[in-house]
Amino acid sequence: MNLFLIGLPGSGKSTLGKELAQMLGLALVDTDGEIISTEGRTIETIFKESGEVYFRKAEQNLLHRLTEKNNQLISTGGGMPCFFDNIEVMNQKGIVVFIDVPPATIHKRLIAQRSENRPMLENKTDEEVLLFLQQKYEERFPYYSKAAIHVKGSDIRSTEILEELKKKGLH
Ligand code: S3P
Repeated sequence: MNLFLIGLPGSGKSTLGKELAQMLGLALVDTDGEIISTEGRTIETIFKESGEVYFRKAEQNLLHRLTEKNNQLISTGGGMPCFFDNIEVMNQKGIVVFIDVPPATIHKRLIAQRSENRPMLENKTDEEVLLFLQQKYEERFPYYSKAAIHVKGSDIRSTEILEELKKKGLH
């Protein structure tokens, strides 16, 4: 079984992923982390030197490589489900969980911790970051909502996700 966590940057995929991987005895994979180590460059540098299209291709290739294996908790970069047929591949190869946190909550978290792995937020004022998140939420919702499990709120806990998995008979 593979479990995928999807959602906007800052929705808590990495933190929840760590907890869930431990609880479920799954190997933890972070797609951004995998790309950084394969490329030997930060995501910011990949975007600057090679462009977003290159990064999206790298994500797609990684997804195909990862889905050859099982028993992984795969925490995905926020855009991964929204390019190519990635969301369909995820749904075929595992259980997808949409971590649905309101953009305003994410905004509060992100302005507290800006990161070099989020080049899309670079050079934006706090207000622009909020607008960007709201826009991405709208644009990406049609992809994110294809997930088998949808957990929503400002304070999503790993136990809540486990409950949802149980309800669906998936754990
Ligand atoms: C992106 C999200 C980032 C990273 C890249 C692009 C996006 O991952 O993959 O900066 O398009 O939303 P996180 O969701 O882990 O921040």
